[in-house]
Formats: sequence, C-alpha cells, structure tokens
Amino acid sequence: MYSKSDINKLNAQFADATPADILRHFLDLYGDRIALSSSLSLEDQILTDIILKVKHNARIFTLDTGRLFPETYQLMDKTNLKYNIKIEVFFPDYKQVEFMVNQEGINLFYESVEKRKRCCHIRKIEPLNRAFQTLNAWICGLRKQQSITRKNLQLIAWDEVNNLLKINPLIHWTDEQVVEYIKTNCIPYNKLHDKGFPSIGCEPCTRAVEQGEDIRAGRWWWENPEHKECGLHKR
Ligand code: ADX
Ligand code: SF4
Repeated sequence: MYSKSDINKLNAQFADATPADILRHFLDLYGDRIALSSSLSLEDQILTDIILKVKHNARIFTLDTGRLFPETYQLMDKTNLKYNIKIEVFFPDYKQVEFMVNQEGINLFYESVEKRKRCCHIRKIEPLNRAFQTLNAWICGLRKQQSITRKNLQLIAWDEVNNLLKINPLIHWTDEQVVEYIKTNCIPYNKLHDKGFPSIGCEPCTRAVEQGEDIRAGRWWWENPEHKECGLHKR
C-alpha cells in the first residue's frame, strides 16, 4: 500500500489514465480496504457504474445524515436494484443527534457557521470516521470545476487528516463530460437535477439555483463561498 511519499509519483503515473484504469489499479491493490464514498451525485453515480464494471463487489458507502431529500433515498434504492448491490449506509450516532437537536433545535445550521459545522460534524464526519476505520483508501467524486474551494485538488492525494490515500478519478472532468456519460450510459440520477439542483446535499441546506449561477450556489446558500465545505474534504 502507498504512503504520502508516493503521491507525486502516482500522479505522474496516472496523469493520462482513464478512471477505469485508475480504479482497477487501486481496487486490486487495496481489496476490501478501499471504497467509493457516494453522495449519489452525478459524479458518484458515474463512479459507481465504472467501479462495478471493474469489480462487481467493490465497496460503496454513503452517509445518511437523516436529512436527505426523498429523491435521494429513491435513487439509492434504484441504484441498488439496477446493480444488484446494497450500498453500505453509515448513520449518525443517535445520542449525539438527540443531544444537539434538544440543545440547539432541529434547524440550528441557519444560525451560524459554527452551528452548521457542528451539525455536519455529527451527521457526516463522525460516521465518516467510522467508515475510515475499515479503509486505507477512499474514492471520491470531487472535480476541480465544482467550486473555488476545489481548484487545487489532485487526482491522487494524501488525506493528512485521516491518514488515507484519496483518489478523485473524475478530477478533470467538465460538467459536459459528466452529463454526457450519464446520458450515454443510461445511469440513474437524482430527479432533482432536472429541477434546477446541480449539487445536492441535505434537504434543508440545498436549494435550486438560477440559470448562470455557480453549480454549488445552492449549497449552504446563506454562507460565504469560502465556508462552503462540510469538513469531509479538509483543505
Ligand atoms: S460536500 O462536501 O459539499 O458535501 P459534495 O456533495 O460536493 O461534498 O460531494 C463531494 C464528494 O464527497 C462526493 O463525490 C462523495 O465522494 C463525498 N460525499 C459527499 N457527501 C457524501 C455522503 N453523504 N456520503 C458519502 N460520500 C459523500
Ligand atoms: Fe446538517 Fe445541513 Fe450539514 Fe446536513 S448539510 S449535516 S443538515 S448542516
């Protein structure tokens, strides 16, 4: 398995490789210690399709915050049926959720960035940390084009915070490439994408965007752009 000192070499080695080639290499090497973390986004649906073509029993997990859209749950079900899989689901610790909600209210996140991050921590980061205990490498659907906070991402990175290899096979993909792959391969996708939601997270923290607006403008729309990360992808 690789370490931080291998990152430059790996990026050079896979600079022109396809996502399937990249995934094949790391899935072979890491076995059950690698997984796709999927939010059921367009990118993650593409990666699900590619990964399962490379390895039919590859691990795919999602973080169910308890505040997702009904459409996201429908897509989870549809994806499981299409590929004959069960996406692993990590839930938040109910005691922490109860304590937070009883102390701060159900929609605390609108009150301050700190409260929003607390909710993200309890509903996403803590379950993600539990998932990480079973992993040495994680695959994500991050793309440079998604946001100003993602411009400096690497194809293969070392996640310092979690001491893991992080692989972003679609890092250089454009919005057009994403849509093209979804259409050409009849990939199931979240119906909200047809209703003005380019980026979808939790229901209370996601709104539709206007034509011409940034694709992540509808995520935590009441915050400044530089705050708009939930902590999953620490820079
Ligand atoms: S977020 O940080 O703003 O929430 P975004 O929705 O863009 O992230 O997703 C970026 C990548 O983070 C996804 O491709 C996926 O790999 C991971 N991710 C985000 N949300 C989840 C989730 N709920 N479950 C699993 N992985 C997730
Ligand atoms: Fe909580 Fe909103 Fe973060 Fe979801 S996105 S975990 S509801 S603050």
